[in-house]
Amino acid sequence: MTISAKLLADMQARRATAMAGGGDDKIKARHAKGLWTARDRLAALFQEGTFQETGTHVRHSCRNFGMEGKDLAGDGVVVGTGYVDGRPVAAISQDFTVAAGSLGKMHAQKIVSTMQAAGRMGMPMVAFKDSGGARIQEGVDALSGYGHVFYQNVLLSGVVPQIAVVCGPCAGGAAYSPALMDFIIMTRSNAHMFITGPEVIKAVTGKAVTMDQVGSAEMHASVSGNVHFLAEDDQHAVELVRRLLSYLPANNSEDPPHRPWADMSLLGDEGLYDLIPEQSNQPLEVRAIIARLVDDGSFLEVHADFAQNIVVGLARIEGMVVGVVANQPAVRAGALDMDAADKAARFVRFCNAFNIPLLTLVDVPGFLPGIEQERGGIIRHGAKMLFAYASSTVPKITVILRKAYGGSYLAMCSQEMGADFVFAWPTAEIAVMGAEGAINILYNKELKAADDRRAKAAELAADYRAEFASPYMSAGQGYISEVIDPAMTRATIALSLRKSLSKREVRPPKKHGNIPL
Ligand code: HXC
Repeated sequence: MTISAKLLADMQARRATAMAGGGDDKIKARHAKGLWTARDRLAALFQEGTFQETGTHVRHSCRNFGMEGKDLAGDGVVVGTGYVDGRPVAAISQDFTVAAGSLGKMHAQKIVSTMQAAGRMGMPMVAFKDSGGARIQEGVDALSGYGHVFYQNVLLSGVVPQIAVVCGPCAGGAAYSPALMDFIIMTRSNAHMFITGPEVIKAVTGKAVTMDQVGSAEMHASVSGNVHFLAEDDQHAVELVRRLLSYLPANNSEDPPHRPWADMSLLGDEGLYDLIPEQSNQPLEVRAIIARLVDDGSFLEVHADFAQNIVVGLARIEGMVVGVVANQPAVRAGALDMDAADKAARFVRFCNAFNIPLLTLVDVPGFLPGIEQERGGIIRHGAKMLFAYASSTVPKITVILRKAYGGSYLAMCSQEMGADFVFAWPTAEIAVMGAEGAINILYNKELKAADDRRAKAAELAADYRAEFASPYMSAGQGYISEVIDPAMTRATIALSLRKSLSKREVRPPKKHGNIPL
């Protein structure tokens, strides 16, 4: 028996209708504005010919408000699986040309079944969000649909990496799906994300605000911290997804894609000396140090515009994937504040969930002093860092570059927080507090009696640094694995990392810890 030409033609016609989304005019209008469609995004993400769509013929189930008989192609979302750089990935892409990509019951069902498949098959999940939100005509069915999506986001959390690309409107409760994922990439133009928009804010508070003030990509990347990567446009957003995926395992039972170099290079790098300022109170540019320690151009900074007093990101060292957490003395002297603590703690937990070793670079004067921080809950926020590091069982390598004072010494993964290796440069200063503060407390009387208080203070501070804060004092008590020549930092990290890739640390089972939130 052969299949009839009529059946084949019918199948092709139905498929063509689904592919056409909201129709040629709407697609052309988007392209005229420089925007991609849902299918353009998937085509750019996946290797050619590898995308397998599911649910192409799904229809909406709404019988209200004139929706009966109306067809919405694919119910406004394209879903399926494909290959990215040779590795399987699941994706959903909301189609704004179809009822503004609004979410109804079947739309949600398609998203949920794709997420379930990602979980079952252990592959990362990418979601392009471009939607007018809950489909108004579907009422509670739409709300329930969101509930199912959020629930799946939570079930997948820590099982497979989840990446959201916000490339259109993402309003109201809809914004909680990206927020429940691991990373949010947001495009500068066309995208807005908020819980309550300008109209509601005006109605409730009487205050006029702009859409950009409450929900632009720049605002979220630099102020609210909701967005991890700013993308110039759709093309850039897809490039960021691919780059990010290149550091990540497919799921939590795999290691990240380490490709250790066949020949270890254990040479010194004296060029690093030039990056260390003469005085300990002169700021050091930690990004320049990171660039020198990791493989050329391999540092992918996460949250680059948010809480810039700490720098986090993914990189490779001699081909091995690491998550880097580093104080940035060039911003707020590198002091830890609430946002920096949140940023670092979340990144550390992501790395631990996906077996990515942690490299921590320390140059921190302490937690930021001030009433705003205390009242804002710096105790609660700072505790997240302690919790995140102490509960992480991945290899943890810490290098103390210069200052490591007080609680921030511990919050930056000291030996007590479970670091496997702690190295210190000879420039390291490790103590309960900085020299100036300490001598004011210890030598108050001497300073008062001195003819030249400033000169006396400088002399005592120098003594304090040499005696109390010297890395050899810490090393003498076994708190530091070794004091190293800064030129040997990369070689030392590479060697330690290689040895710790087989690390297995088993903790007693529990439901979950209670991280201070
Ligand atoms: C059904 C919708 C829709 C929606 C838009 N459309 N939003 N249909 N439900 N939520 C339809 C329009 O009627 C129109 O249909 C087509 O999509 C394109 O919309 P336009 O308004 O013409 O497009 P544009 O001018 O680009 O404006 C896009 C927009 C705007 C900014 C997204 O449509 C808008 O503000 N929509 C409402 C957004 C909203 O308030 N959503 C609910 C949020 S609350 P035709 O047939 O004319 O082409 C929410 C709660 C979630 O989501 C709670 C989860 C817990």
